[in-house]
Amino acid sequence: MSLVIRRCRALCLDSGPAGPRTGAAMNELSIRDGVDVIVRGGRIESIGESLTIPPGGQVIDAHGDILLPGFVDCHTHLCWAGDRLGEWSKRLDGVPYLDILKAGGGIMSTVRAVRETPLVTLTELVRRRLDTILRHGVTTVEVKSGYGLCTEAEIKMLRATRDAAVTWPGTVVLTALLGHAIDPDVGAAKFVDRTIHETLPAVHAEFPGIAIDLFCEEGAWSLADSVRLLQTARELGHPIRAHADQFSSKGLVTEAVRLGALSVDHLEQTTPREMETLARSQTFGVGLPITSLGTTTVPHRPREGAPAFTGMTPPIKFANLRDLIDKGGRACIATNANPGSSPTYSMPFAIALAVRFCGLSIPEAITAATVNPAVMLGFHDRAVIAPGKRADLILLRHNDYRELAYELGGDPVRAVIVHGQVARYFAT
Ligand code: NIG
Repeated sequence: MSLVIRRCRALCLDSGPAGPRTGAAMNELSIRDGVDVIVRGGRIESIGESLTIPPGGQVIDAHGDILLPGFVDCHTHLCWAGDRLGEWSKRLDGVPYLDILKAGGGIMSTVRAVRETPLVTLTELVRRRLDTILRHGVTTVEVKSGYGLCTEAEIKMLRATRDAAVTWPGTVVLTALLGHAIDPDVGAAKFVDRTIHETLPAVHAEFPGIAIDLFCEEGAWSLADSVRLLQTARELGHPIRAHADQFSSKGLVTEAVRLGALSVDHLEQTTPREMETLARSQTFGVGLPITSLGTTTVPHRPREGAPAFTGMTPPIKFANLRDLIDKGGRACIATNANPGSSPTYSMPFAIALAVRFCGLSIPEAITAATVNPAVMLGFHDRAVIAPGKRADLILLRHNDYRELAYELGGDPVRAVIVHGQVARYFAT
């Protein structure tokens, strides 16, 4: 059966050659006004004005509203158990995110919850979150493990996500975030050795070709240990990714580029020199602007001796994606959905913040949320509206694409189409 989206304003994003968009090409949305898009067999069949509507198919009249490719959210931690509400209350009292991690909370508190949660329960939790993120227009999503931090629990997380993905209409890409923190009960040296010599080979056996990821930071993985894990993963044939420069710059961007990483993510503290190194490489830079906001709080009840609440925020550091793009680099943005630093499911919110604080134009932010992350995750069949491409599409409630970035915490998605089927339609 066919599906026709009639009279839409399509952001086709199909002007350039296949591959990541860089430089000025990131601004090219290739807008086609008043077109019909015919979809059949999960693919886009044709685009044009006043096309003959195939009989018997489903028709959505867009009335001139925006149709664009489904979002590709290339950095999430959607597999978790428990919550971090108690810890968040401490953050409202002024305790920094990294201090909570160093004291054995933060990521480690979610690790304890995940270890205690049975596989079926975890699977159900992931399934629900996939449904939520779909409602916000995400049709392809990367989901990391990283709250297991021992072989059994890391494998359990990957299986839970794989099982949840079976009934989700979109596409899920798994990443093994084996170096998310250091388990203080094991100790750094032993934990790093165990991760490299036991957990990595076990993941390699069951999930060959999965990307391996880590978090290089004070209180998490050191630069030297990060390089050891990434190097070994590379030798086993895995793509590698890294959380780099979130709170401090450790030099991992340069090392990750040297090792041929697929992406370096965060980049809030990246120096101009390392941004240059990244921009000259094939490695993608992923900005996570919601996280900059999510890790910043103005203490309600300041600690002893601290100044009273004034309503002023401390300085907030966002990834300088303007610099990355101006230097010719490959830029993406993502939600970083997770219970600790980025409790969100909203790519439109990530776009709104990337435009305000990472220096992106609105078209650049849309490209960084669709075409570029699709290529980074290895998909060349989607994220543009062109005949033959996979019909993962979203219809907005708006006829001006700028609304996507203008609205803060809005609800811009009217319909989500996945592989040619209407997965969600919101009448109002
Ligand atoms: O990308 N920084 C490391 N990992 C996540 C946070 C995970 C958590 O706090 O649970 C991030 O921000």
